[in-house]
Amino acid sequence: MSVTAVIGAQWGDEGKGKLAHILSLDHDIILRYQGGSNAGHTVKAGGETFKFKLVPSGMLHAGKTCLLCDGVVVNVMTLAEEITALRERGQLKGELMISRHAHLVLPLHCMQDVYFEEAKGKRAIGTTRRGIGPAYADKYFRVGLRAGDMLKDDFAHRVKAMARRKNVLFTGYYNQPEVDPDQVWAQVAPAVEVLAPLVGDTIQLVRRAIGNGASILCEGAQGTLLDIDYGTYPFVTSSHPVSGGALLGTGISWRELSSVIGVTKAYNTRVGAGPFPTEDAGPDGERMREAGAEYGTVTGRPRRCGWLDLPLLRYAAQLSGFTELALTKTDVLDRFEELKICVAYERDGRRIEWPDLDPEVLQRSEPVYEMLPGWHSDVTAARSVDDLPTAFMDYLGFIEDYVGLPITYISVGADAGATISRA
Ligand code: IMO
Ligand code: MG
Repeated sequence: MSVTAVIGAQWGDEGKGKLAHILSLDHDIILRYQGGSNAGHTVKAGGETFKFKLVPSGMLHAGKTCLLCDGVVVNVMTLAEEITALRERGQLKGELMISRHAHLVLPLHCMQDVYFEEAKGKRAIGTTRRGIGPAYADKYFRVGLRAGDMLKDDFAHRVKAMARRKNVLFTGYYNQPEVDPDQVWAQVAPAVEVLAPLVGDTIQLVRRAIGNGASILCEGAQGTLLDIDYGTYPFVTSSHPVSGGALLGTGISWRELSSVIGVTKAYNTRVGAGPFPTEDAGPDGERMREAGAEYGTVTGRPRRCGWLDLPLLRYAAQLSGFTELALTKTDVLDRFEELKICVAYERDGRRIEWPDLDPEVLQRSEPVYEMLPGWHSDVTAARSVDDLPTAFMDYLGFIEDYVGLPITYISVGADAGATISRA
């Protein structure tokens, strides 16, 4: 029996999907525990590129059980489209189950997300506009619809009732036109047909699997610094990407967690608003964006780029109890003569190593950099650590020493094969 969690150590987009896809081969069950279609997990396999928003990255392997567990918010339209598209390509190989407790994201939530962002104007969070915040808000306000509700006779009635409730908000608060509840139902009904047969008791499935010694892979979405409590609130998502979220969102207990892999890029990126001390708005950041194709998978927005922030990485490691690190997109740094790496901050004339995630305070924290020599050579063909230049290994070692964890996976390119395992 083993339970491994793959968790983003930054602001999302760390390459969790690629690692989850590779590791899923060795696991019986691959599950998502939080977030929704705000995730954009790119998997390159067999010469094809897949961009998953909801289905776990294990869906491409036959014989795997893939779960969308209790803590996930399921966009009914997106998931139905993903499943249908995978079926048409003959690539829906794993079995998929949706927890009956998982909350549903309806087009109504996406509209609310857009209205809310637009009403905030300059103070907008820069959400993915995928209805995530409104769906989690409904969940905690205890008015949400859950996947299990799709199996009930009165589901159409519940969807229409939700549309009528949202109309009060849309017209009264956001000054937007009313939706027609019948039309809302007509839009979601075909998707419900696709999804309803997949709803089940994932808690029981997980508990049984653990009892039978199965191996489970928990695929995190977003990242630690976007956690609703531990991130840069309010510039965060509405769920818990940290390892605690993997327990809350599934029915797995802390006793069963065996390894927690923190995934970090060799530099930092952020998409959307919020503090980012090591952001490089100059030519270096631009080079990272171009070399790393740093444009959002879900929204296409250019990502903000900057240098690796070790105090934040160590913070992430401590909060989730990472047992090891995966370092991704290292090849993006191939062209740099010198690499900056943030080891502390300076604030009000003092050197500080502990990050304060209050957005205003973090933004005022001036990074203190160490300079390391770049390796300025192409590492994409490396398949073992022996192929990697000394300066590369020194950069790795510097991170390992600072965070106090081994880097067990090194990604040197986008393809699944471009990964060096030291696990
Ligand atoms: P993956 O799983 C990067 C960011 C959004 C915004 C904030 C809130 O691919 O790493 P939301 O739509 O969740 O309410 O947006 O969080 N965000 C992500 N950034 N990768 C993601 O997912 C993200 N999911 C949300 O840009 O700043
Ligand atoms: Mg993403």
